[in-house]
Amino acid sequence: MAEASSELERPDFEKGYETKNVRDGEMFLGHAFGEPVLVARRGEELFAIGATCTHYGGPLAKGLMVDCTVHCPWHHARFDLRTGEAIAAPALNSVASYKIEKRGEQFFVTGKIDRKPERIPKSYPASVVIIGAGAAGGAAAEMLRRQGYDGPVTLIGADESLPYDRPNLSKDYLAGNAPEEWIPLRPPEFYRDQKIDAFTNTTVTNIDPKAKQLTLSDGRSLGYGALLLATGAEPVRLTISGAALPHVCYLRTLADSRRIIEKARNARRAVVIGSSFIGLEVAWSLRERKLEVAVIGRDSVPLGKILGNEMGNLVRETHEAHGVKFHFGRTPAAIHDRYVQLDDGMKLDCDLVVVGIGVRPNTRLAEQAGIATDNGVLVNEFLETNVPGIYAAGDIARWPDPRAGRIRVEHWVVAQRQGQTAARNILGAHEPFTLVPFFWSNHFDLHIHYVGHGSGGDDVSVFGDLKAKHGSVLFRSDGKLSAIASVGAIARISKLKQRLSAARNFPQHDFAALNATASTPAQADVFQSRRSTLEC
Ligand SMILES: Cc1cc2nc3c(=O)[nH]c(=O)nc-3n(C[C@H](O)[C@H](O)[C@H](O)COP(=O)(O)OP(=O)(O)OC[C@H]3O[C@@H](n4cnc5c(N)ncnc54)[C@H](O)[C@@H]3O)c2cc1C
Ligand code: FES
Repeated sequence: MAEASSELERPDFEKGYETKNVRDGEMFLGHAFGEPVLVARRGEELFAIGATCTHYGGPLAKGLMVDCTVHCPWHHARFDLRTGEAIAAPALNSVASYKIEKRGEQFFVTGKIDRKPERIPKSYPASVVIIGAGAAGGAAAEMLRRQGYDGPVTLIGADESLPYDRPNLSKDYLAGNAPEEWIPLRPPEFYRDQKIDAFTNTTVTNIDPKAKQLTLSDGRSLGYGALLLATGAEPVRLTISGAALPHVCYLRTLADSRRIIEKARNARRAVVIGSSFIGLEVAWSLRERKLEVAVIGRDSVPLGKILGNEMGNLVRETHEAHGVKFHFGRTPAAIHDRYVQLDDGMKLDCDLVVVGIGVRPNTRLAEQAGIATDNGVLVNEFLETNVPGIYAAGDIARWPDPRAGRIRVEHWVVAQRQGQTAARNILGAHEPFTLVPFFWSNHFDLHIHYVGHGSGGDDVSVFGDLKAKHGSVLFRSDGKLSAIASVGAIARISKLKQRLSAARNFPQHDFAALNATASTPAQADVFQSRRSTLEC
């Protein structure tokens, strides 16, 4: 848990604390009942909630307060200060909510309270079926229940496991630093208790939108009132000679990650084909397992097309400093039992090969059903497809982003939030999806946070000291801020994200101030808590 012991050394809110010490729009960390507690003030109102994020334990007191919410600084989950509810993923569980009493000049935290909001759906489909039990599908199923829908909910997944923490599969889990029990997002009882019919090892093979019927891989048919497509993506496969050899692995599922771990136990040398985010995270994790690792990358700078050359070079240097060997500008010509041969004839010895050359969205089912697709399933701002009552979310969805136009991204938080938004819209919320895309990626001690939708080809400016692992890269397209990639500046990137969420017409004069914020910690407050009507 993050910084729990030092948090308990802070003021004891049970004993009372001066109200004037918590200023309007600010949060203050203390403790009560043996737990870290965050007190926040908005006007004359005070709120008290648990101070530790329920995702990976991020310190909420270092996050961003926006209206009556707090944004976790690590992966931007949002909690309602009034109730403690985790209103936006990746956190799925609430934090505690506390009773707070003002007596004279002081306030006292006097006990926990259960303030579960009562919600009644505006519309009520006869049933909801979700195809794909991953990030988007799992988050959608839960959100239907949180919104007060008590009709039948069915979550159908081709995977052998119920929804799990996919990003961890290439990070701490693969590196051997996270136990298996951290991986499921929920225990099986959760789905039983929530009355969510969750099927594993079951593929939907056909959708008949006219009859509102699905066909399942076991031959059964299933009707639906509303349907959510959340079928995700699958790895692009190599077709070169030797690509089907048993020591060649891909990484998408928990079973894939387990397979790599199993093979890594008896391996000395690994070759990673593809210097993608996943390929490089695998390289890091296998180095943690003490394998010699070589990476083959087509480009000269890893991730440069997304992060820009400066950040891409930092990623390269970080890997090299930890012993990863790169072979840039090369492609594999053939895979053999004990080596990979490159297109220039060079042979890289190995007993394990992991391929990470990108993914393809699983849109076949939608195409067969006559749902409009074009590099993804096309949805409107409410995540509904051209067939009324059928929604799409996650890696397959291509939606009209208010800033970047129609986009499709492959990010965990975007998928979960789209699942949550789609669930609310299935129940009549009519809520546009306006989240600024966000992802994170880890490489040894380098933790990259990225918000927005830009590319290394945009106008790129670097602020701070990337080599000291404290700086940001700002991307501008047509004079407007399009994205920010940051290392070691996570509190500030939250604020910048908040700004970006209002950046449809980002004014030029703000850009200079924004630059200053990206580089100078002292100016970080410039953008504190500016109200935005868009979700962030
Ligand atoms: C190893 C790894 C690490 C990652 N790390 C990060 C990260 O650090 N940060 C980040 O932002 N993103 C990360 N991502 C990307 C992120 O995990 C995806 O963007 C996210 O999982 C997409 O969610 P989804 O629900 O669209 O698809 P998925 O989570 O892939 O779920 C789709 C599900 O649909 C099922 N399915 C497909 N077809 C059918 C069918 N016909 N019938 C039934 N079920 C079907 C699949 O079995 C799958 O379980 C990572 C991805 C991987 C693989
Ligand atoms: S730790 Fe809070 S969102 Fe991840």
